[in-house]
Amino acid sequence: AGLLPFQHEEFFPFKDAEVAGRQREAFAYVRSTYVGKTFPLLVSGRAVSDRDTFEVRNPADRAEVVWHFPKATEQDLRDAIDAATVAFESWRFSDPMQRASIMLKAAALLRARRMEFNAVMTLENGKNWAEADGEVAECVDHLEIFARETLKWAQGKPVEPMQDEHVTMVYEPLGVVAVISPWNFPAAIPLGMALGAIAAGNTVVWKPASETPLSSYLMIELLHEAGLPQGVIQFLTGTDDVLGDPLVDSPKIRMVAFTGSREIGCRIYERAAKVQPGQKWLKRVIAEMGGKDPTVVAADADLDAAAQGIVAASFGYAGQKCSACSRAIVEDSVYDAVLQKVVDLAGKIQVGLPEENAPLGPVIHEGSLQRILGFVEEGKRSAKLVLGGERATVEGRDGAYLQPTIFADVAPDSSLFQEEIFGPVLTFTRARDWRHAIELANDSDYGLTASFYSKDPVKIAEARRLMHVGNLYVNRKCTGAMSGTHAFGGYNMSGTNAKVGGPDYLFWFVQTKTIAQKY
Ligand code: SER
Repeated sequence: AGLLPFQHEEFFPFKDAEVAGRQREAFAYVRSTYVGKTFPLLVSGRAVSDRDTFEVRNPADRAEVVWHFPKATEQDLRDAIDAATVAFESWRFSDPMQRASIMLKAAALLRARRMEFNAVMTLENGKNWAEADGEVAECVDHLEIFARETLKWAQGKPVEPMQDEHVTMVYEPLGVVAVISPWNFPAAIPLGMALGAIAAGNTVVWKPASETPLSSYLMIELLHEAGLPQGVIQFLTGTDDVLGDPLVDSPKIRMVAFTGSREIGCRIYERAAKVQPGQKWLKRVIAEMGGKDPTVVAADADLDAAAQGIVAASFGYAGQKCSACSRAIVEDSVYDAVLQKVVDLAGKIQVGLPEENAPLGPVIHEGSLQRILGFVEEGKRSAKLVLGGERATVEGRDGAYLQPTIFADVAPDSSLFQEEIFGPVLTFTRARDWRHAIELANDSDYGLTASFYSKDPVKIAEARRLMHVGNLYVNRKCTGAMSGTHAFGGYNMSGTNAKVGGPDYLFWFVQTKTIAQKY
């Protein structure tokens, strides 16, 4: 369609002093422009702000309130769903080229403001510069990729012709899509789901996590600046009693796109299955949930590369990615060597402020840390603590910090091995051989990402065949999927495997119409 070939957005080289200086300026800009402000809800293009509000706090120092958002009322939710229903009647027939152009323009606008968006994200979810930059760059990629997908899917697909009929198969949108998103990727995850919806001509009610609403709000503002008609996306913040079940249960919602915990994902899946009075369709749900992602190291692997991959994937963003490595499973003969290398590398990771780009920042809040510490205490009883295991402090800051923590000799039937911890906690488990290691890797309710390290083509072929995950990485870390390249989504309790950023993602957001015409 005359678009340039897609290229991934490059990350900023923060080692360069000039680039680092610009990121610091962006923090100063965000502090003077956004901190202390109250942002509105967006319903049918109206900014709604005369509501009770809640505070958003900086996880690096919970004493700091960064901004405020409204608590939507039940009436706001009804208004938002109605507005999306009305907007659908025009947006469903919008020109796919118009939709694609809006996304391309938004990509260009975002490119120019990446550092500002990075800084906002750091202040509300505690990512350091590189992690925030990775996510904002992914947003640019999403905008570029979804523009291309919009045009591709607008073509329909060819079918076998018949003598006396002209037959076409085209894709049509579904209706109003509820987008419910988590705090750990507050821009890229909801943006991916919302772009899937609007690329296909659906409209959206977007409910971000209460910890991180501004990263979402700014994305929507950007889409409006790029020409998205008001009313295509509504934005609601507030409490789960108003915006959780009632949003999912509404008979006017056609589809729910969710990313978050297994518990909430299962709840949504169940509730959405119930046909409500007045509902004219079976709701569709896509749910991306947790992970308990293994890294398998075979004896012949490059052990240094494996150790580096494990450390990056386990402790990046304090282990708070669904893709994070949380289980190292290592062949017996190299177990001690790999453990030692990982402990050496992880022991050097500095805990500090994300705003100063420290390698290991806080977890999202105290409640999360307390839950993680529960696993740590269990680990101290049932396994061997080899690194960390204590709360960390950053002077003068009230944040929920934990030392990088590693347990060795973790039993496969322990909760440490089976349950998602969502913090900077890594377990090591010894395997008899590499086949046993693959079996242990698959011994999980989840199946999101995994890494496999070996140089042997036979072992690699077996891992490719047998490892039961949606995203398998061979000889590299298991985090950092790139939109357009690493279609992302898991198996089993990791979710519905919708594969955001991949060539089939839009199929979830459409229904298919066959038209056979006789002359
Ligand atoms: N897409 C992210 C990653 O691959 C996780 O959501 O790390």
